[in-house]
Amino acid sequence: MGREYRVTIALAVAVLAACANLQRSRDLGNPDVAGRVLAEQVCSNCHGVTGSSVSPNMPNLAGQQKGYLVAQLRGFREKSRQDPAGYEYMWGISRTLTDRQIDELADYFSMQTLRPQRIESPPARIEAGRAIFTGGVPDSGVPACLSCHGPDALGTDMYPRLNGQHADYIAKQLLVFQRTDQRPAGAVMKVVAHGLTPSAVDDVAAYLQAMPGLAGAR
Ligand code: HEC
Ligand code: HEC
Repeated sequence: MGREYRVTIALAVAVLAACANLQRSRDLGNPDVAGRVLAEQVCSNCHGVTGSSVSPNMPNLAGQQKGYLVAQLRGFREKSRQDPAGYEYMWGISRTLTDRQIDELADYFSMQTLRPQRIESPPARIEAGRAIFTGGVPDSGVPACLSCHGPDALGTDMYPRLNGQHADYIAKQLLVFQRTDQRPAGAVMKVVAHGLTPSAVDDVAAYLQAMPGLAGAR
């Protein structure tokens, strides 16, 4: 390939990328743009086009409860959910979303099917996590997670789905609930997480990430 040819291609790619970015930022502040378009053009960059994200820091949104998604997007928009990654990544993006766009975004992601991840944690860790999920840690006053999040951790309108969520993200949120007031809507989780040791946090997070791939779990 000639040098000039390569430069031309590089230029064309740069111009195309600039156009795409321009289009994206224009869509974000435009109240007439459909939620689906925002999902595909903006949210997809971090959460994946269908809400199964590649990066362990970016939560999966696929198959998440619609009511929970609406509540979180409003929480970011109104700046009530203020954990550091939340304000760094989600405050700017949610600032201009209308209620209609939030509703359509929540519809779009809640109806996607979550892509299961590889099971990476050792079986002993996952087994320890299963015990916490189903039975809590009675000596430390930690209730069983399934009593609210459901036996398959698929959630309900009031409680988020945890099944198949990235372990890193789950562990981070448990520490946010336990140590801060940065997620005021999760006051009940502060009580739940109070007695979890750091190692118990990692155990239950490993179990939840592995759940879709485990026999008997959906
Ligand atoms: C630049 C990356 C980025 C983009 C783009 C992005 N997000 Fe996020 N989003 C994040 C990160 C990181 C978090 C986790 C924040 C935290 O840890 O509190 C998050 C969290 C969320 C949550 C909370 C999930 C949960 O389980 O509580 C929702 C809902 C969400 N994003 C929806 C969206 C929607 C809808 C869009 C598009 C309009 C979008 N995000 C665009 C990075 C991004
Ligand atoms: C009494 C009911 C209840 C119990 C028991 C409970 N949770 Fe929750 N959990 C909630 C509620 C309500 C929320 C939503 C909080 C919010 O909106 O900020 C939540 C949110 C979460 C989140 C954040 C999800 C996300 O996408 O950001 C995680 C992680 C979590 N719970 C893990 C657990 C684990 C692990 C256990 C068991 C040790 C557990 N929960 C037990 C009610 C409960």
